[in-house]
Amino acid sequence: MNKPTVLVTGGAGYIGSHTVLALQQAGYSVVVLDNLVYGHRDIVESVLQVEFICGDICDRTLLDQIFSQHDIAAVIHFAAYAYVGESVEDPAKYYRNNVLGTLTLLEAMLAAKVSNVVFSSTCASYGHPNQIPIPEEHPQDPINPYGMTKFMVEKILTDFDQAYSLRSVRFRYFNAAGADPEGRLGEDHNPETHLIPLVLMTALGKRESITIFGTDYKTSDGTCVRDYIHVTDLAQAHVLGLEYLLSGGETSVFNLGNGDGFSVREVIDMAKKVTGLPIPVVEGYRRAGDPALLIGSAAKARKILNWQPQYADLEKIISHAWQWHQKRHA
Ligand SMILES: NC(=O)c1ccc[n+]([C@@H]2O[C@H](COP(=O)([O-])OP(=O)(O)OC[C@H]3O[C@@H](n4cnc5c(N)ncnc54)[C@H](O)[C@@H]3O)[C@@H](O)[C@H]2O)c1
Repeated sequence: MNKPTVLVTGGAGYIGSHTVLALQQAGYSVVVLDNLVYGHRDIVESVLQVEFICGDICDRTLLDQIFSQHDIAAVIHFAAYAYVGESVEDPAKYYRNNVLGTLTLLEAMLAAKVSNVVFSSTCASYGHPNQIPIPEEHPQDPINPYGMTKFMVEKILTDFDQAYSLRSVRFRYFNAAGADPEGRLGEDHNPETHLIPLVLMTALGKRESITIFGTDYKTSDGTCVRDYIHVTDLAQAHVLGLEYLLSGGETSVFNLGNGDGFSVREVIDMAKKVTGLPIPVVEGYRRAGDPALLIGSAAKARKILNWQPQYADLEKIISHAWQWHQKRHA
């Protein structure tokens, strides 16, 4: 039997493109909607070779057209802006795109009677944690507009389930990292703000140095500790989340992390080992709003979705990212 069709918003971006690949491998038909503000046309058209609609989630007419022309069973919704600093400087841009855009998408889904959505939320919605590893029941108290937009959409999704029976899986990701193990896809944000690609671009000589923001945190070596999760494991979780909803699972929220933290210095040391290259470091001041430790418990996803990460190992994560960066920046 043919598997249903899934609409992936933001499918030309980093996590979206890896998820499209995982969906294709699992036998799903996929339609990608992405406005290419940050996504990559070559990835969707040449690598994934998927049906691609270049357009915006805020465009209700386009959404109605997509839902009427395709028999969509579910939406996996990645499309959003995700730069924390920019969200502080220009919150209107974030509330408009991430909240209003999502509301427009959800209303179009309701009109088309599409009642399953998988949503990309974030550990940034927890704010400063009072418990490590962070469980899903931890209070959400975002400390920047980006985290607030995700928190607001989570609330909207809860209300939409109650009022309209629109069921959702909300995934709160920790730090997505790595690249497709076969080197077909990888991380290519512009501007790039994530640690691992910045470190690897420094190894490649594309940047002069990597700055460590704060060396006086209460962690083992004074630098911030984060939970890095391989993007292919994240993608696999989305397939499981989708299947959970399609088989009648109720609205739920899951952390996606490895439950293991690595400091900024540990990441840089591992990148030196993987690349065999020097990586000049500059020690800078703390940035406002960076918690010392962000580590998530994904016990719930493992138990309920039977999610089993394959690449929960920092060396593998960095090796796969390195393979991709060498190819992409050759
Ligand atoms: N990368 C991480 O570590 C991380 C962590 C937590 C949550 N997230 C969330 O995961 C999702 C994907 O993140 P990513 O790192 O792949 O980002 P990304 O920027 O690579 O992908 C987002 C995609 O959405 C598209 N997009 C943005 N606004 C759009 C709109 N209005 N209409 C259509 N397309 C639009 C962009 O062009 C881009 O291709 C985002 O929602 C982000 O907030 C990411």
